[in-house]
Amino acid sequence: MYHNWEDLEKSVIGCKKCKLCMNRTNIVFGTGNKQADIMFIGEGPGADEDRQGIPFVGKAGQLMNKALQALGIDRNKLYITNIVKCRPPQNRVPEQDEAEACLDYLRNQVILVKPKIIVLLGSTALKNICGQEYGITASRGKWIEKKGILYMPTWHPAALLRDETKKIEFWRDLKQVKHKMQELNAKN
Ligand code: URA
Ligand code: SF4
Repeated sequence: MYHNWEDLEKSVIGCKKCKLCMNRTNIVFGTGNKQADIMFIGEGPGADEDRQGIPFVGKAGQLMNKALQALGIDRNKLYITNIVKCRPPQNRVPEQDEAEACLDYLRNQVILVKPKIIVLLGSTALKNICGQEYGITASRGKWIEKKGILYMPTWHPAALLRDETKKIEFWRDLKQVKHKMQELNAKN
């Protein structure tokens, strides 16, 4: 556990804690506001993210950006990262040992950011953060509170590219996030 970003970021350079280190171009650590009230957690880098070293810059990310923009949520005010920081081959779901090896970094990121709300994008994020017993279909759109953080599970933006009907639910879930944030800000 590192108490500042510099030490944490240094600790991940050249990481070989799991086999995903073998095929990566760049480690995709995270991006955005390090004091964000809202954090977004995806699954793992895709080809574009691996090339650029930045999360959610490919097709799915662009779709997510559009939704954020339309809702008036500023991407620069969020902190965005993934369960695993290196690209799984053929974009497969990260395996358990890989997710476990990488989760320490994510836990440390959460401790440093101290978000009020965490948006879990898809099943991999939900299961690795809240527990394997959670399913995305049943859980999406419903707040989960754990240790003072509010979690909102929703569809992974790549799922919206495959199934248009999920867009409206994704939109609804992000709207809940926006309203909750306004509610929390009004209390302060
Ligand atoms: N999908 C993810 O889960 N994360 C990214 O960063 C990009 C696509
Ligand atoms: Fe290290 Fe995470 Fe990359 Fe595995 S995925 S090599 S644990 S940074």
